[in-house]
Amino acid sequence: MSVFSKKLLAWDNSENDRTMPWKGEKNPYKIWLSEIILQQTRVEQGWPYYEKFVQNFPNIKALAAADDQSVFKLWEGLGYYNRCKNLLATARYVTNELDGNFPKSYDDIVALKGIGPYTAAAITSFAYNLPYPVLDGNVFRVLSRYFAIDTPTDSTEGKKLFTAKAAEVLDKKNAAQYNQAIMDFGATVCTPASPKCSDCDLQNSCEAFQNGVVNKLPIKEKTLTKKVRYFTWCILKVKNEIYIHLRTEKDIWQNLNEFYLIETESKPNWDIASITKTIEEQIGVKNIETTTILPETKQQLTHQLIKSQIVQCTLPQKPNALKAEWVNVDKLSQYAFPKTLKEFIENSAI
Ligand code: ADE
Repeated sequence: MSVFSKKLLAWDNSENDRTMPWKGEKNPYKIWLSEIILQQTRVEQGWPYYEKFVQNFPNIKALAAADDQSVFKLWEGLGYYNRCKNLLATARYVTNELDGNFPKSYDDIVALKGIGPYTAAAITSFAYNLPYPVLDGNVFRVLSRYFAIDTPTDSTEGKKLFTAKAAEVLDKKNAAQYNQAIMDFGATVCTPASPKCSDCDLQNSCEAFQNGVVNKLPIKEKTLTKKVRYFTWCILKVKNEIYIHLRTEKDIWQNLNEFYLIETESKPNWDIASITKTIEEQIGVKNIETTTILPETKQQLTHQLIKSQIVQCTLPQKPNALKAEWVNVDKLSQYAFPKTLKEFIENSAI
């Protein structure tokens, strides 16, 4: 075993006090569920969702049997809904085609929808103790610092190099413990900002620490370019009903509902007159009364920043042009919405 792995496991055995509900779990369904929830989500945020899912769907057959909207509703607030869509597709595939038995080999697991090399390595190592190293942001950071590797982690060369390094230092007999340990170490000691080097058991052999370059590593080639989008959501109300639209387009928030959307190329400068006129022209209804224009709120997604505004309008009658659903105000909370709208629905009078 490498010096790195020995020290890492010694730290895990003596000092790692991180507890999480999926830690030490051997049931591949629950491990898979936790890993899908934790993709692009922080542990603290994912934790209650994991518990809700396990409670509602104690096994893969229960998840497969659930209807789409109730699962999306449970997922609400976690974002990146493709994860949820794939979760359902895979639950149904395993239930219907594999008699509910989660596959046991890396190749069969990585072939499932929504499972990439990282998640497949996590499942095979945690559930079956098979020797596949996980390679996530924590692992890139820990390895790049410990071995002082300055090749960008997101370059082709970097990916190859880190994959090889991760395989080389993995404790192959003890992959479940090792993989969880390196993630926990990255999350609690070798953290992105203010790593706890002065207390770190690996300090003596950490190349970055010895050379004073801890804070320069890891290196990334490209920082993501972030696009800004401007959304104006119009809450169109006729008597006690509100217009909602299910987002089915290949875009963010697939399968979530929203209010009537006006997306603009640049920051809109709405006043009562201009927004009222724009809606009247778009939906072909006259005598609309706009009652509120809320200030802008922002939501940062991975590749885009959504700047959104909500306006509330009363219509004298339903437009012929809009064929989507009209929902009673009291029933709105039964539908899944993006975070900004969910919060508005929960906290405001509509
Ligand atoms: N992130 C993804 N998987 C994780 C795990 N098993 N433990 C902690 N953080 C994680």
